[in-house]
Amino acid sequence: LKKLCRVHAREARPVKSAAVLGAGIMGGGIAFASALKGVPARMKDISQGQLDLGSGEADKLLARQVRQGRLAPDQAEAVRRGIVAQLDYAGFQQVDLVVEAVVENIDVKHAVLAELETMIAEDAIIASNTSSLRIDDLAVPLSRPHNFVGMHFFNPVPVMPLVEIVKGEKTGMAAVSAAVGYAAAMGKTPVVVKDCPGFLVNRILIANTRAFCQLVADGADFELVDRAMEDFGWPMGPAYLMDVVGMDTGSHVCKVIAAGYPERMASTWQDVLELMVGHKRLGQKTGAGFYRYEADPAGKPV
Ligand code: 3HC
Repeated sequence: LKKLCRVHAREARPVKSAAVLGAGIMGGGIAFASALKGVPARMKDISQGQLDLGSGEADKLLARQVRQGRLAPDQAEAVRRGIVAQLDYAGFQQVDLVVEAVVENIDVKHAVLAELETMIAEDAIIASNTSSLRIDDLAVPLSRPHNFVGMHFFNPVPVMPLVEIVKGEKTGMAAVSAAVGYAAAMGKTPVVVKDCPGFLVNRILIANTRAFCQLVADGADFELVDRAMEDFGWPMGPAYLMDVVGMDTGSHVCKVIAAGYPERMASTWQDVLELMVGHKRLGQKTGAGFYRYEADPAGKPV
């Protein structure tokens, strides 16, 4: 696998400038990870509020780098200048690769991707950060599907090394190589996976989530489950992890995988996650999920 990645990285057209569509926590994290490694990233959203969120995320991450002595203040300032927050497509003709990280809704993604394709150079790559939707399904409105690939980052982007690179049926090898090369340039570990609902990681992660929801529905105390799984060796328990991922995202990924593999899915997860979504307890992003959070949304549960 490592050899495969090295081959792709060697053959890839280097991504010298990038852009991210959708400027939430994921978009801000991707733009930060890119700029930190010297690839400037435009960050576009339709909402100023979301742009502020993404910029704030990048600011926070840079401040942490300075505090930890990893970047001098002037280096941090240079990285910050590499992240350009914008509401329009200015400069998109010049970027080599755009990561689409908008809401996980196929109709919205179709509309955004079709528009994006008209705003970029003919040979620029579009990479979707979808968590679970098939690349072939997302590619439907595109006239250049060979330039379209999946690039699935994990939350929190700055610290999670893995990026799934998803090759759809029509994805060209140049697009796969560019995405592999870009992920490697960001210091990440790319893994090329098949185009199926949930790809590799979420098919495993969601099996755990389903089992966790089953325990909660059976009456288990989620804090005790978390403590047990952390003592077992997981970096965070399943309830806390769902708060990081977001109940809406988790529920959506469950639905996509359930639709893809109906014969393998029990449905208890839906009752628990939908209950949380119904109460707007989406996780850290709304200040409460299984746990409640202080003002800093990435803070520890209280
Ligand atoms: N943003 C940026 N950096 C962060 C961070 C955040 N939100 N949280 C922690 N960090 C950094 C810290 O600064 C620290 O960096 P340093 O070593 O350079 O000082 C490092 O991460 C370790 O942090 P801590 O010691 O405070 O905490 P932990 O040891 O508990 O590690 C963690 C934090 C890396 C987030 C760890 O808990 C973990 O790996 N959790 C699992 C996360 C996970 O599974 N994510 C995937 C979610 S699924 C997904 O995103 C896909 C979607 O499709 C559903």
